[in-house]
Amino acid sequence: MSEYILAIDQGTTSSRAIVFDHKGRPLWSDQKEFRQIFPHDGWVEHSSDEIWQTTLEVCRGCLKKGHLSASDVAAVGITNQRETTVVWDKVTGEPVYNAIVWQDRRTADYCEQIRLEGHEQSIVDKTGLLIDPYFSATKVRWILENVEGARERAEAGELLFGTIDSFLLWRLTNGASHKTDATNASRTMLFNIHEQCWDDELLALFDIPKAMLPEVMDCSADFGLVDASHFGGEIPVTGMAGDQQAALFGQACFEAGMAKSTYGTGCFLILNTGDKAVKSENRLLTTVGYRLNGKVTYAVEGSIFIAGAAVQWLRDGLRLIEHARETEELAENANAESVAYLVPAFTGLGAPYWDPNARGAIFGLTRDTGIAEIVAAGLQSVCYQTKDLMLAMEADGAAKPTTLRVDGGMVSNNWLVQFLSDVLDAKVERPEVTETTALGVAYLAGMQVGLFESLDQIRDLWYCERSFDVQMDEAQRDKLYQGWLDAVERVKTKS
Ligand code: G3P
Repeated sequence: MSEYILAIDQGTTSSRAIVFDHKGRPLWSDQKEFRQIFPHDGWVEHSSDEIWQTTLEVCRGCLKKGHLSASDVAAVGITNQRETTVVWDKVTGEPVYNAIVWQDRRTADYCEQIRLEGHEQSIVDKTGLLIDPYFSATKVRWILENVEGARERAEAGELLFGTIDSFLLWRLTNGASHKTDATNASRTMLFNIHEQCWDDELLALFDIPKAMLPEVMDCSADFGLVDASHFGGEIPVTGMAGDQQAALFGQACFEAGMAKSTYGTGCFLILNTGDKAVKSENRLLTTVGYRLNGKVTYAVEGSIFIAGAAVQWLRDGLRLIEHARETEELAENANAESVAYLVPAFTGLGAPYWDPNARGAIFGLTRDTGIAEIVAAGLQSVCYQTKDLMLAMEADGAAKPTTLRVDGGMVSNNWLVQFLSDVLDAKVERPEVTETTALGVAYLAGMQVGLFESLDQIRDLWYCERSFDVQMDEAQRDKLYQGWLDAVERVKTKS
């Protein structure tokens, strides 16, 4: 029996593929960055074709590295940047517009309008989400309203909508399968997370024809067969989850009260709340953690839009560094007396502030401030924002997790993880496999084909590579965090 799983992790800045074995060990991987398109202030787009092409290339690259053919692969799992919206032609597969990325703020005014019309409470009640351009609903509506002929074609049943998971699945199956999973659906602002179905009232509010929507499945399910034209033979797609939920799964956070934080382009702190959809009073999101055999495990999520993207900006925007890996040494050598604060609100502020019109700033510059101090401020901003989220969770009544499991590209930076532990005043654990997102969907796909048997088995496969304990004293922590809160206050456009 074939014992490999091909996990596709289609992220915001790159497409990746990793082949895992039946013990969850990553064996071969490949990654390709693609263009970020910024047509106007606050707009962020991707070319859907580049997403597709880079995904195909990294899958083929991985198989080639492992000298694998399609028959060696038991299953494919798809995990993805969530909320990013694609609308495409049902027959040709041609997107009618670029993918509108989750970070895109173009629908901020429309969101404000529906809030003023009094829709917020029912949207929160049904979807667990707050009204914000972040989610897919207003992006689909924008495409239908602004792309010539799109509304007529959608109403005639000629167009399909999907988040990146559905779009990739549709392309991989050569149009045979238009499906998504409950975690991705829960980020669209069109899905009732309690009833687990598309919500007709919300579809009417946003004027989106139901026929455009994919069928919603469990996270481990039979999603369709990859057409033989892509990898030389058919492979079943049996796992799917939004990337943050996949990371929750890959971190084996299966009990209520367990939390993980992933540092990719953005940062997402997710707390498992078990079979209860806990409603936040502190502007966090209630979301589907995973759904297996029709049973939903819910989660509370804090979403920060810019984490690794801040380092990317230091590299590509300011050109202060050449490689992200330089940030660790620079931060170690930064002058601890010269504290600067970088608020990376490039696309507004996410949880718990939800201020789409806020923009970034650097405060506290002195003649001593150099590249190292600005780099340190960029890394620290990610930690302070995690603390914002954790405090909001605590204010919602969650017990402070004694340990936080972290993953994502940024956590290879030891300085960052130590500062995180210090500022949170909590132990932080880094797992052996930090590609937890891909691992999580590999588990989900593998469960469906019998390569993994149970959550207990997956829990036993989780190993801590390094644990970081608090080293900072309380006075120092409070002083630094207060400085952050002051800096955020100064960029906010609403209270
Ligand atoms: O909600 C957006 C999130 O899914 C993006 O994740 O890893 O691309 O930053 P990432």
